[in-house]
Amino acid sequence: MSQQVTFDGPLEIKPDAEQAVRAVDVKKHFPVNEGLLGGQTGKVRAVDGVSFSIPKGETFGLVGESGSGKTTLGKTLLHLHTPTAGSVEVAGQQLGDLSKREMRAFRRHMQVVFQDPTSSLNPRKRVRQIITEPMRIHDIGSEAERTERASELLEIVGLPQEYLHRHPTALSGGQKQRVGIARAVAANPEFVVLDEPTSALDVSVQARIVNLFEDLQERFGLTYLFITHDLSLVKNIADWIGVMYLGRLVEVGPTERVFRNPQHPYTRALLSAIPTISEADERLKPGDITLEGEIPDPREKPSGCAFRSRCKHEFPACANAEPEFYDVGESHYTRCFLHDADHEPDGPPW
Ligand SMILES: Nc1ncnc2c1ncn2[C@@H]1O[C@H](COP(=O)(O)OP(=O)(O)OP(=O)(O)O)[C@@H](O)[C@H]1O
Ligand SMILES: [Mg+2]
Repeated sequence: MSQQVTFDGPLEIKPDAEQAVRAVDVKKHFPVNEGLLGGQTGKVRAVDGVSFSIPKGETFGLVGESGSGKTTLGKTLLHLHTPTAGSVEVAGQQLGDLSKREMRAFRRHMQVVFQDPTSSLNPRKRVRQIITEPMRIHDIGSEAERTERASELLEIVGLPQEYLHRHPTALSGGQKQRVGIARAVAANPEFVVLDEPTSALDVSVQARIVNLFEDLQERFGLTYLFITHDLSLVKNIADWIGVMYLGRLVEVGPTERVFRNPQHPYTRALLSAIPTISEADERLKPGDITLEGEIPDPREKPSGCAFRSRCKHEFPACANAEPEFYDVGESHYTRCFLHDADHEPDGPPW
C-alpha cells in the first residue's frame, strides 16, 4: 500500500545525485485588478506550491493543459518572475540571496528558449551579433574569441558559416530556432528552460531540433526543463516527467514509469488522449478515464483536490483537503487520495 509522504524540504529526485535545480514550495500569484477603481479584486494562483529538483545533466519534462502554469513555473525558476513565496536554487546558488547586480551576473548560468523564434531574435542584428551577445553582456572573451565561438556554435547547431552575416529575416523558422539555441548555450549555462521550443516548427524540423538538444546536453552537460503539450515528444526526450494541474505538480516520476503506469487520474486522462498509430499502442493507453470539460479558472480553484471537478473517481475526502504526495515506489509520486490506505484499502481501481 502506498504511503503518504509529506515534504518539508523539496521533493528531491535522485537524492544522491548532484542537483542542478531545487525548487521548494515555489508560488507565483498574479494580482487581478477588475474593480471599478482598478483595485486588486483577487489573485491568479498560477503556480501554487511546487517542490521538485532536477539532477544535473538530466531533462525534466513538464506537461499539462494550457493554463496549468508551466510557463509561469519556468519563468519563476529563472527569477524572470520574482516568486511570491518559496525558494529556487540553481547550480548550488539560492537565487533569493542574490542582489540585483549579482543576479545579472548569475544569469549566464540560466537560459531560456521560447516557442516563437521570430519574436525572440532582433531582426536588425546579424546572427554573429545575436550569438555573441550573451558573451558580451557577461564579459566573456575578447571580440575575436567571441566571434570564433559563434562560428563554432553555428557549426554545432548545423548552420553554414556564411549565416553569421545574415539577419534573422533571411532564415527559416527552424534555422532561427537553431540561432536562438546557439545563443542560449553561448555562455556555457548550467540550466536551460525550453518552453515549447519546437511547437512552431514543422514536424520534420522538430525531430532534428530535438536531436540537437540531446547532442548539446551530452556535449555541455546541460540540465533542461522541457515544457510541452506534446506527450509523445516528451516521452522521447525527458528522463523525468512532472504533470502540472492548476499550479501544482500532481504526478512526478521517471518518464518510462509514468507512461507505463500513470497513477493520477489527470495523467491517465492526458495519456489516453494521445493520438496513436498502432493498435498495440492503443491497447497500452489507460482506458478508464477521458478528460472532460475545461481546466477551471485558477481564480476559482475547487477546494480540496483541484482536479476533483473533472475526476470520475471523486469521493467525499477529495473535497476536504488537498492531497500531499504519495510515494508509489521507484521515485514515482502522485497527489491522489486513491493511494491512501485509509480511504481506499484496496488501492486505486486501475
Ligand atoms: N502576467 C500574468 N498576469 C496575470 N495572469 C497571468 C500572467 N501570466 C500567466 N497568467 C495566468 O496564469 C495561469 C497560468 O499561465 P501559464 O502561461 O503559466 O500557463 P501554461 O501552462 O504555460 O499554458 P500554455 O500551455 O497555454 O502555454 C493562466 O491562468 C494565465 O492566465
Ligand atoms: Mg506556456
